[in-house]
Amino acid sequence: MPDQLLNIEDVVRLTGLEESLIRFYESEYPAELPKKILLGGALFFDPASIAAFAGIHARQQGAESGPKLTRERFARVITVTSGKGGVGKTNLALNLAIEFQRLGKMSVVLDADMGLANVHLLAGLTPRHNLTDLLSGRVEMAELIEAGPEGIGIIAGGSGILDLADSRQQDRCRIIESLVQLERAAEIILVDTGAGMGRSVRDFLQAADEILFVITPDITSLTDAYGLLKALHQENLPALPIHLVVNMVQSLKQAADVSLRFSSCAREFLGRDITDAGYILKDNTVSQATARRTPHSIYRPNARVSKNTRTIAANLLQKEQRQSAASSAFGRYLNLIKNGQAQLPLTRRKTA
Ligand SMILES: Nc1ncnc2c1ncn2[C@@H]1O[C@H](COP(=O)(O)OP(=O)(O)OP(=O)(O)O)[C@@H](O)[C@H]1O
Ligand SMILES: [Mg+2]
Repeated sequence: MPDQLLNIEDVVRLTGLEESLIRFYESEYPAELPKKILLGGALFFDPASIAAFAGIHARQQGAESGPKLTRERFARVITVTSGKGGVGKTNLALNLAIEFQRLGKMSVVLDADMGLANVHLLAGLTPRHNLTDLLSGRVEMAELIEAGPEGIGIIAGGSGILDLADSRQQDRCRIIESLVQLERAAEIILVDTGAGMGRSVRDFLQAADEILFVITPDITSLTDAYGLLKALHQENLPALPIHLVVNMVQSLKQAADVSLRFSSCAREFLGRDITDAGYILKDNTVSQATARRTPHSIYRPNARVSKNTRTIAANLLQKEQRQSAASSAFGRYLNLIKNGQAQLPLTRRKTA
């Protein structure tokens, strides 16, 4: 990079402003800032940006609206994942969003499963657009959010996610910038991923504030979950908080046994602490709700599975991560991409 061009760290250092505030000024006052310079597939700041940012900031500090800006809040980005498929991630992401919404938190589900994007099916929606349209520039982020049950937002998946993983750095940055906008609008973003550690899953794990791991008492679910955890650990994923949900259990005792076994393993062999976010009983209500294309928390709010999901939402709210509100998870990821640090090996590592 030539000396005169600046990356975001330079701008943070030279202006003394937080990165989130710089991103905010970038999105709010584009006309007052010099155009970014594209070099080697990445965008850099013009040195004149420093004075421009300082000017905008000084004006904001003086303006009545100044204090509002310093209280800017970003959504909690919770990526739902699992080692094995079919453990209940999509049902959990969707119904958890509904329960969060009932607890007063504006929630959005982002369908990032490139294999089987089915959040909209479970929610009974026929989306007008999906992430492919955002990638091709046909729609803006705001048009992509469908109004779902209980007022949650749903962003339908599709092959767009796959395109995102394979797209040019410039396009990836543009999409992630749109997701930063979404973080300003919502309070909680639940990202539903496919199982395992494909490339798009890694993207969304890196762009998370927290990871919600779903396992079942099934032995292959446990070994696959442990394998995924080990892969995450070896990939040096930032030490994000990991919450565990044990799904499809027969009893509270079974849930406690499985949770304890998994978290002790993680602590002993990987030195990772995992918090227990709760459990969900095996319940036919889930398949009945699916047949009606209605989330179970809407179809039968008082069914065991819905009550369990409500408890998980309450548990997660209690474990509110202060730092997630103060900075943008997707913004941090954007920096990793721009600095070329977001590239991880494509294949999932073999686990012993
Ligand atoms: N608590 C539960 N009780 C009974 N059945 C459940 C429960 N949770 C999920 N299921 C059933 O398990 C199956 C998988 O659920 P879901 O699609 O939510 O899993 P997933 O992890 O998203 O799957 P994939 O990895 O394919 O995306 C569905 O048939 C669903 O009805
Ligand atoms: Mg799924």
